[in-house]
Amino acid sequence: MPVVLPHHTLEEIPKLLYAELKKGTVQKKHPFKNVVLSTLTKETSMSRWVVCRHVTAEQGFYIYTDNRSQKILELKQNPNCNLLFYHDRQGLQIRFNCKGKIHRQNELTDKYWPGVKGYSAENYTTSLAPGTPIASIEDGQEFLKNITDEYFTVLELNPYTFEVLQLSREGHIRANFEKTTDDQWKGSFLVP
Ligand SMILES: Cc1cc2nc3c(=O)[nH]c(=O)nc-3n(C[C@H](O)[C@H](O)[C@H](O)COP(=O)(O)O)c2cc1C
Repeated sequence: MPVVLPHHTLEEIPKLLYAELKKGTVQKKHPFKNVVLSTLTKETSMSRWVVCRHVTAEQGFYIYTDNRSQKILELKQNPNCNLLFYHDRQGLQIRFNCKGKIHRQNELTDKYWPGVKGYSAENYTTSLAPGTPIASIEDGQEFLKNITDEYFTVLELNPYTFEVLQLSREGHIRANFEKTTDDQWKGSFLVP
């Protein structure tokens, strides 16, 4: 069942989409739980799946990662990035152009670190940095003696434009939106 229907207005669409995006952060099997994050290097773009942990009050997104990972290096060099969501059952694609902000050992990471328990904490405490070449699989499964939040990072991704494509038997619907200076979404319909 499509989320965006022909009778919806450009004012209604962002609200409908954000309601669906929030479900992704709380419902275990929701297709918006995971999202493709693309960053830029000098030569090319780099994409990877990440878990969308929170939708913020400012309509941004939080993602957890290791501060030593490549995506952090890339975002430090260029904070422009892209988030791509796809809901297969609803035929709904949303892509956001965002600015990334890196949080490490600050108030925000202090808030979320206690919720990163046990096995999940290992994702941010490998002895070697993520992406380091290793001689054996075991070398990648060595962890720091003390569970520490040293590398735990919350990536805040704040969208400034987005585009939605709703596939539907009744006719596809496509629209793009831009954030205005007073934090509203201004949209236009596009040929799908
Ligand atoms: C379903 C899925 C969810 C993932 N979630 C995360 C995540 O939330 N944070 C993260 O840093 N990596 C996550 N990963 C691993 C990344 O895709 C990636 O391999 C890793 O972060 C290294 O990326 P980088 O070297 O480009 O920084 C996930 C992978 C998959 C397949």
